Amino acid sequence: MKQQLEALRAKAVETLSSVNTAAELEEFRVKVLGKKGELTAILRQMGSLSAEERPVMGALANEVRAYIEGELARVSAEVEKKAVAARIAAEKIDVTEPGITPKLGKAHPLTLVRKELENIFTSMGFMVAEGPEVELSHYNFDALNTPDDHPARDMQDTFYIAKDVLLRTQTSSVQARYMEAHKPPLRMICPGAVYRSDAVDATHSPFFHQIEGLVVDKNISFGDLKGTLEEFARLFFGPETRVRFRPHHFPFTEPSAEMDVSCFVCGGKGCRLCKGEGFIEILGAGVVHPNVLRACGIDPDVYSGFAFGMGQERLAMLRYKIDDMRLLFENDVRFLEQF
Ligand code: PHE
Repeated sequence: MKQQLEALRAKAVETLSSVNTAAELEEFRVKVLGKKGELTAILRQMGSLSAEERPVMGALANEVRAYIEGELARVSAEVEKKAVAARIAAEKIDVTEPGITPKLGKAHPLTLVRKELENIFTSMGFMVAEGPEVELSHYNFDALNTPDDHPARDMQDTFYIAKDVLLRTQTSSVQARYMEAHKPPLRMICPGAVYRSDAVDATHSPFFHQIEGLVVDKNISFGDLKGTLEEFARLFFGPETRVRFRPHHFPFTEPSAEMDVSCFVCGGKGCRLCKGEGFIEILGAGVVHPNVLRACGIDPDVYSGFAFGMGQERLAMLRYKIDDMRLLFENDVRFLEQF
């Protein structure tokens, strides 16, 4: 039995020297020291020993057990240390390695144009207002002197959601809301998306953006309109820009005009961009119709005003020489990266 115990010790030490993982260690522990293990098997023979031999063998068995347990603990600590070292090596980060440069996004050309317009007009004291894109026909049409029988209200042009609810066809609806909610003097612009039942081509889209402006105060005249829009044109298109007003009709303004700017490519001589005209049409404007002021709770005998509206896509196309409006909506990164 003494030899068996010594053999067990020797074998245990040898086995432990080649153990590498926690699982192997556990397997060893069960096999050697476990209840049904090799040590227990040897100890079963105690019964056959003499009374003198028994305590001697008991002491030796305890010593061997303690020894193996000690070795087990030592190897176990080593295995653990190696595992930690391996994990650290595997997770090591080389902080000197060059990083992955994140791809930075860019503002969409329409956003750039809108911001520039907002800067120009807020620098002249205008507020920026917004309103709903799903609008009541009251604000889109009725309050803007555009009665029920007006052709602009036709199903052909307008996306109706219900009888009196539609996708706004113009941001003028925001002006009506603003006049209702604020007392003059008013100076505001309202940028936003509008919808019209237009077929898509290089210069049309059923979804586009406008920016409209409104000034209401005492003694506001067409002269104020001209001065403001001339200044705007010079700030947006360059200091040499000349403007030209042509008579036009809008239901909500009287008199009404369209404004052209001198072509910023040829300076007015005539070129491909201005189609030989020397001028490019950019906006509609006029003196606010008394019916509009009245419908929005402002006394036209005390106050007067002017309003204007233009398309952001058109301004972006002119500014960045984009020849097809569809490019602005396709979100092709190769296109958008250029701005
Ligand atoms: N709302 C007009 C349009 O959509 C533009 C406009 C605004 C004209 C204000 C005159 C005054 O065409």
